[in-house]
Amino acid sequence: MKSGMLGIGGIVTAAVIATSALGDGHENKAIQAAVKARQSQMILYSFNLGLLGGMAKGDIEYDATAASAAASNLAALSQLDQSRLWPQGSDTEALGADKTRALPAIWQADSTAGEKGMALVTAAIAMEGAAGGGLEALRGAIGEVGKSCGGCHDDYRQTE
Ligand code: HEC
Repeated sequence: MKSGMLGIGGIVTAAVIATSALGDGHENKAIQAAVKARQSQMILYSFNLGLLGGMAKGDIEYDATAASAAASNLAALSQLDQSRLWPQGSDTEALGADKTRALPAIWQADSTAGEKGMALVTAAIAMEGAAGGGLEALRGAIGEVGKSCGGCHDDYRQTE
């Protein structure tokens, strides 16, 4: 009798474990997708800023149309709705630093990550207005853009 009861208990326990493992699997997939999407957005930031930075430095010949297009992309990207990109439980502590460099401080009550994101929006919109107006105008706007990227990375991205 006793061993029969244990048997049922064992099955129940196994079922609970199976269910929670399945649940975790789904949640993990959603979290991994969000991490991948936000890292991709960052790469698109870099790709567009890279052209503008190259022109500012004189490594790439200034071209008003190309500069404008890159700056418009950056401004649009910075204004995408990011609410699904930063789910709870997607930080370095939860996933490990090999999966993400997003620090847990992003999700803390005193986080200023939202403001840092807004600083990028403001700087990118200013760049959008300046980039097609000549190399000097582009140069005048790029500092604030770079600062807004670095301002967030300094506080919220784990250093490599
Ligand atoms: C509001 C904060 C914030 C702003 C603004 C920001 N970043 Fe990031 N960035 C992060 C965080 C956090 C990560 C780590 C994301 C992760 O690994 O999950 C990151 C990661 C990156 C990465 C690495 C992506 C990868 O392959 O893992 C690049 C490149 C990058 N950012 C470029 C930029 C550039 C360029 C800008 C400005 C145009 C910028 N970021 C603005 C927070 C920010």
